[in-house]
Amino acid sequence: MRRLYLSATFIFWLLVTAFWVGSLWLPPAEKSAAIAVDKSISLAELAKHRTPENCWVAIRGNVYDLSAYLPEHPSQPDILLSWCGKEATEAYNTKSKGRPHSSYADELLVKYRIGLLASGKP
Ligand code: HEM
Repeated sequence: MRRLYLSATFIFWLLVTAFWVGSLWLPPAEKSAAIAVDKSISLAELAKHRTPENCWVAIRGNVYDLSAYLPEHPSQPDILLSWCGKEATEAYNTKSKGRPHSSYADELLVKYRIGLLASGKP
């Protein structure tokens, strides 16, 4: 019984140590994300991504890859689709009809950010 207890304890600490050592080998996540996020994207590059499967949109100086979000967007698909490959700050701010998106929509945007718009347009 004591032998079993000692073996279990040994295996437990072996696993803890293995996970700890393994975590030291992982690349620093924030650092690699920061590099990707700060990528500078020109209007010409943005314009190449204008299909439903490959839809980039610039809003408030940032570029977002909305390909995965397009089917989720609550409006008619064409409304958002028509902004793929373009600077769409005004459209986003007004939903094309004078009403701003909710703070929930602003939060959603964050996870689709892929870089900065090179022209620095607001
Ligand atoms: C860029 C051009 C965009 C246009 C023209 C646009 C337009 C619209 C319209 C017409 C509606 C439905 C009607 C309404 O709620 O008043 C809507 C709702 C919504 N849109 Fe967009 N949208 C755009 C981009 C986005 C993006 C990039 C996101 C988020 C990633 C987003 C998230 C939402 C959400 C969550 C709603 C539900 C209502 C709200 O929370 O404000 N939209 N949008």
